[in-house]
Amino acid sequence: MLEHVGSDTHCRISGQTCLVTGCAGFVGSHLTQSLLDMGHRVVGVDNFFSGLAENMLAFLHHERFVFVERSIAEPRLFEELFQSHGPFQAVFHLAAIVSVPYSMSHADETHDINFLSTERLLEAAEKHGAARLIFAGSAAEYGAEGRMPISESYADDRTVQLSPYGNAKYLSSRAVSQSPIGVSLRFFNIFGPRQDPSSPYSGVISKFMSQALTDTPLTIFGDGEQTRDFVYVHDVVLAYLTAAGMIGQKLLPPGVYNIGTGKAVKISALARIVLILTDKSNTILVDLTSDEGSEAGGRPVCLFYPCREGDIVHSVADVTEMTTKSDWKAETVLSVGLARTIAWYRQILVR
Ligand code: UD1
Repeated sequence: MLEHVGSDTHCRISGQTCLVTGCAGFVGSHLTQSLLDMGHRVVGVDNFFSGLAENMLAFLHHERFVFVERSIAEPRLFEELFQSHGPFQAVFHLAAIVSVPYSMSHADETHDINFLSTERLLEAAEKHGAARLIFAGSAAEYGAEGRMPISESYADDRTVQLSPYGNAKYLSSRAVSQSPIGVSLRFFNIFGPRQDPSSPYSGVISKFMSQALTDTPLTIFGDGEQTRDFVYVHDVVLAYLTAAGMIGQKLLPPGVYNIGTGKAVKISALARIVLILTDKSNTILVDLTSDEGSEAGGRPVCLFYPCREGDIVHSVADVTEMTTKSDWKAETVLSVGLARTIAWYRQILVR
């Protein structure tokens, strides 16, 4: 059901020892699984603040996996990990406070965990001779950027991020990209199996899917004309492996790289595709531009709410840097990624 790194992928290296922080998270668990599938050893760290033990079920007892349940906020953690489990050739840093609203009310904690921990990990990785540290950056680093598509240079020291989350991600990306071993991947809107739909601030795709599969109207904030760049989690994993020099022919230089598809998708169009893929085919007739999209004579399939405070209108990545300096490009067509994701939500909803 979950995709694996294909046999046609050109693997440059195998048998490395890797550190993955946030290994129980949505993306971290997919990455860990792929590294193990490729023959690498993985030391994974998570404290289950937002990660889930069930995300690790497929590999928790794998012979080349070691799990360390600790917080990245612990000042001596990384030094201890390098000493007891290193040397690590590749370090993947995904652990973070991932909720933007939580960061708003916990600014200092977010700064500590999302930035100061990154600095400590980078220092330990450099000191202990890691070949690569790959950091999970975010489109949130760009603040309310109006120029589309967004290129990496649009975030600089004058940029005002909209949240402590975005600010800490920017500071971390800057520090990582200045290191000779550092790559920061700035992800746009990631989606796929294991994305948690349960919080009011969960990603729109996870919310639309759980709503559609439970016959609940889809909630659209604003007029649905806003756009996002949705990138499928399998392509995100391939971006990590590329950045680590584990797949592909070209070795990506240190720096900051946007990871997205380069394509803008309207939220109203997304709602329509989700409705079709969840077998509500009669809802093709839904008028998503009216105040309330409804099935002919039936109950509403979409409800429109006021714009979410602080929402940016458009967000689409310029992916030229990543696609010209490496062999990576997002390959998964939106409808295919959505169909795979729906299949997964169907499975968990019937459990
Ligand atoms: C995303 C990131 C966030 C980051 C931001 C930076 C996710 C889940 N969040 O936020 O961490 O700070 O990029 O640019 O990837 N929407 C609806 N109905 C819903 C939920 C959302 O219409 O039920 C709309 C939102 O109003 C928004 C769009 O869908 O316009 C995307 O929302 P969301 O998935 O929460 O992601 P971002 O706001 O882009």
